[in-house]
Order: sequence, then C-alpha cells, then structure tokens
Amino acid sequence: MAKKKLGNRPFLYPYPVVLVGTEVDGKANFLTIAFCGIVNMNPGMLAIGINRAHHSTKGLLANKAFSVNIPSEAMLAAADYAGMVSGSKVDKSGLFEVFRGEVAGAPMIKECPLSMECKVREVLDLGGNDYVVVAEIVETHAGEEYLTDGMPDVTKMKPVVFSMFDNRYWGIGEFLGKGWSLGKDYKPKA
Ligand SMILES: Cc1cc2nc3c(=O)[nH]c(=O)nc-3n(C[C@H](O)[C@H](O)[C@H](O)COP(=O)(O)O)c2cc1C
Repeated sequence: MAKKKLGNRPFLYPYPVVLVGTEVDGKANFLTIAFCGIVNMNPGMLAIGINRAHHSTKGLLANKAFSVNIPSEAMLAAADYAGMVSGSKVDKSGLFEVFRGEVAGAPMIKECPLSMECKVREVLDLGGNDYVVVAEIVETHAGEEYLTDGMPDVTKMKPVVFSMFDNRYWGIGEFLGKGWSLGKDYKPKA
C-alpha cells in the first residue's frame, strides 16, 4: 500500500471533544478542547494541550486546577460556541449550569453526562503554542441516567469525536466487540 508523508501533523484521529472549566478572575469560564487524553490509570491522570494565550489558561495556571466535562451530542452547538469565543471578550460563565466539587477553581457542567475535577500536577512548556498540562483526576461526577451497572455507558452518554482540518464532529459508531477478548481467536501470520 503506497503511503503519503504528511509531516509533523497532529493526526491522532479521532480527537475527543471535552469542555474544560476554569475559574478566571472569580468567574467560571469554559472552552472546548480536543487535545485531551488519559495518561495514567492509577491514580487517574489526564493531559490536555492548551494554548498559552487562551483566557482559560490564565485561570488554570493561577488555580492549578480545571475540570474536564464530556458533552453529549445534544450539547454540541453550545460546545462549539465555547470553542469559538474567548472569555476575554464574552462572558461564558452562564453558558452552562455550574456545579462545584472539592477542587477550588474547577467549575463543572451539570448538563454534561460526566465531569472530572482535576488538580494540575505538571505544566510542561515544550516551546510550542500549547502548554501540556498533566493533571490528577480528584473526583468524577456522572449522571445516574448515563450509567449501566454503575459504570459510564457511552451508548447513553453519546460523546462526540472530532477530526481536525476538515473540522467535523462525529458521533460514536457501532459496537465492534469486547476488549481483551476479540484477540483470543486471532491467528498471527506465520
Ligand atoms: C472542536 C474544537 C476543539 C478545540 N481544541 C482545542 C485544544 O485542544 N486546545 C486549545 O488550546 N484550544 C482548542 N480549541 C480552541 C478554544 O476552545 C477556543 O480558542 C476558545 O475560544 C478559547 O476560549 P478562552 O479564551 O475563553 O479560553 C478548540 C476549539 C474547537 C471548536
């Protein structure tokens, strides 16, 4: 199969779509983030890539805290809006219903199926546009209607994924099989 080189591009497709909450100058602020992923299992940690010039970054650095909220498909237009306007120009504090947990400076979103309040462990300045922020998940809050057997159920949460440069949002696809199970009958090529 012929391969075309695309260079140093961030094509780890697809991206998750999350809303990150911060407290900036005493006000809740939310922005959309696609550069986000789990980086440690126990304790649960995640990392985000956040532009150093964003309004949210100011609050994140001051409080060493933020929240990560997973919006459902139904919230997509509001999530897109949060990623189009800056809190430095438009007050985004009333965009969602806010609730708070134990981490100061990490306002969370009631409408989201799942929210995580996070404490910053490391802010890495690697010289690019973004800070790489590694954070510990202090608590996870999930709406009961999105759980099956006490665990988050993506078929109920209806999270959104994103492809960049064509800038398109996607729902999750069909169920393909169980992890640590499908490979059992796989026969590697000799
Ligand atoms: C789908 C989508 C994904 C985005 N992903 C990121 C991201 O991963 N990192 C980032 O710094 N900005 C990202 N942005 C841009 C910010 O959300 C946007 O610039 C926002 O208006 C900044 O808000 P603030 O200035 O109030 O913090 C994304 C925007 C959209 C629409």
